[in-house]
Amino acid sequence: MIKRTSQLPGFYKVTVNERRRLVAEATGVEAHEIARALDRGGLEAETADKFVENVLGTYGLPYGVTLNVRVNGKDHVVPMVVEEPSVVAAASNAAKMVRAGGGFHAEMDAPLMISQVQLTHVADAPRATRAILAAKEEILARADRAVPGLCARGGGARDLEVRTLGQASDAMIVVHIIVDCRDAMGANLINTIAEAVADRLASLAGGRVGLRILSNLCDKRCVRIRCRVSAGMLATEDMDGQAVIDGIVNASRFAELDPYRAATHNKGIMNGVDAVVIATGNDWRAVEAGAHAFAARSGQYSPLSTWRRDGDALAGFLEMPLALGTVGGTLRVHPSARLSLKIAGVESSSDLAAVAASVGLASNLAAVRALATDGIQRGHMALHARSVALAAGAQGSEVEGVAAIIVEARDITVEAARRALSVLHTKTARRATSEGDGHGIRHEERQSSSVVDG
Ligand code: MEV
Repeated sequence: MIKRTSQLPGFYKVTVNERRRLVAEATGVEAHEIARALDRGGLEAETADKFVENVLGTYGLPYGVTLNVRVNGKDHVVPMVVEEPSVVAAASNAAKMVRAGGGFHAEMDAPLMISQVQLTHVADAPRATRAILAAKEEILARADRAVPGLCARGGGARDLEVRTLGQASDAMIVVHIIVDCRDAMGANLINTIAEAVADRLASLAGGRVGLRILSNLCDKRCVRIRCRVSAGMLATEDMDGQAVIDGIVNASRFAELDPYRAATHNKGIMNGVDAVVIATGNDWRAVEAGAHAFAARSGQYSPLSTWRRDGDALAGFLEMPLALGTVGGTLRVHPSARLSLKIAGVESSSDLAAVAASVGLASNLAAVRALATDGIQRGHMALHARSVALAAGAQGSEVEGVAAIIVEARDITVEAARRALSVLHTKTARRATSEGDGHGIRHEERQSSSVVDG
């Protein structure tokens, strides 16, 4: 019986193979399973060819893990697929601060999705509404018959709502069938139901069938995350914790008052959420569409999270719709997505949503703390320097060496990285001649103190 932990000090300093070994020990997933599912991106071109059309190959992205995540008292090592430097380290670092205050507290709605059926050319909307509501049990039974597998797993149609949209001349009726999708994201199930009940609804309404599709504004499937961080954890070299709390509360107020800032604030949340959604084979476009529609539900686009002072500490709250699956879809065929669920140690779609949203709140905390203190560029540029070093041709341990040089020179350009690389090559060649050893490049600390995860 392994004791699952998400605390792996010094993780960022070791090699990729060593990290795989540490994650295997911490999660109970076999190291060879990790290698098999992640080497070459886990997806062969032949399999990709069955996913989508006109395939030429596959496209790789970095696969990392966020550490220190504790949700409702349970530790999770959380896979993230993302191309942006510093996102993974920043989330790990913020999760560590939250963990010290008791971790994330998550609350999840039942996995209810909305199937929409549009009915047009309805002559008498009130009469049609009454007829549909009177046939509610019949419609729900018809919906259930269309998804027997879901019903066998304990899901199925739960409720029906009728809405009238538009003015008298072009009024239309929209029927919502509310469906419990259990551990599926549910898009296919919901669309199947919409198509199965549409004709009957049109006949009850005396109208014509329009669109039959799920709604990505799945506001009956929300997740709510709370966390509390002590001032001491938030302090930086130059600012005490109380001043950082004030700065973060100001950042939150700014987002609450201004859609221009709210969009960027929410982008910081989605940095974390999307990376987990992608790693677990889920539909991030659906998640994005739902998140932003939810953010605009009051008529003003607003932040999905808010930060407030709670005595001497900082309290964070995030609420968003999150339709994720742990069965079906991409998970059937993508070994890396299946591996992600095992590493994360999530057993249901609700668990996964709680973990993904917690990583979103962690990413948001890291961003607003950096913005309220040193500014985002310091930590960001230090990590960006590694991509620049790679672009300049640095390989293996040279990447850290070159990145350290260009950060110190405050010149993070490919040109500067090329110069640094050539200096390193000259030094290495000299050392090899004098010592008969070609590996003299010093390992530099790779991550700035503002985002480091250990
Ligand atoms: C960058 O990917 C995300 C941030 O812009 C988020 C924010 O401003 O809160 C740093």
